[in-house]
Amino acid sequence: MNGSAGAAAGDATAASQYEYTVIDDKSRVREISNEAYPVMDADAKKHIYTHSFSDFFYSKMKQSEKTVRKGDLLFCSAPHLFIAHEKCVGKWAEDSKANCIVATAYFELLCNAYGLGTTIMSYPSEVLNELAPEARAILNIPKDHYTGLIVGFGYPEIEYARGVQKDRRKKIHRWSYDDGSDKSGAWNSMDQLF
Ligand SMILES: Cc1cc2nc3c(=O)[nH]c(=O)nc-3n(C[C@H](O)[C@H](O)[C@H](O)COP(=O)(O)O)c2cc1C
Repeated sequence: MNGSAGAAAGDATAASQYEYTVIDDKSRVREISNEAYPVMDADAKKHIYTHSFSDFFYSKMKQSEKTVRKGDLLFCSAPHLFIAHEKCVGKWAEDSKANCIVATAYFELLCNAYGLGTTIMSYPSEVLNELAPEARAILNIPKDHYTGLIVGFGYPEIEYARGVQKDRRKKIHRWSYDDGSDKSGAWNSMDQLF
């Protein structure tokens, strides 16, 4: 995968200004973690968390630190990180966030197409933004840029035969006429679609 493939990834608006930062050096990933982790853990002892966390959620995260996270609570032992970011101020700030989220999703698909494993993570981004600005500064991303999601990526340790099986049918809402048909007769049942 090369940079131009990522740069060509879609986003939410034609005029979007999103950029992305790739931390491909593993020791640099460690450096960020080493800067952020002690601050986060010391704050937790004082019951200070990012906006989405609490005693309960932090303790759950801690439980998985030595198992699935392999000693890296923040970045799940991902060797490389990708962060889509965009200046996020004023009237179109919400669109900037959407651009970054769309770019993140495209990046994940791109990685998967190249046989790379990915984990989308919001928690480490919260930690860098809310608790450990010194660690965020290592990234050299301007302070007024939105950084909501970090993608950890690399060659997967575990091979899945297929994706996790999820029954999404009840989550899909489809407009139809009162009698349940769409009058075209093409698709009367969600089962035919999925
Ligand atoms: C918006 C979003 C934020 C996430 N944040 C984190 C996170 O901070 N840390 C984490 O370990 N997993 C996080 N996840 C979960 C992983 O990306 C992944 O979905 C999860 O490990 C389940 O994998 P699966 O979807 O392949 O079953 C997040 C997922 C999403 C969609």
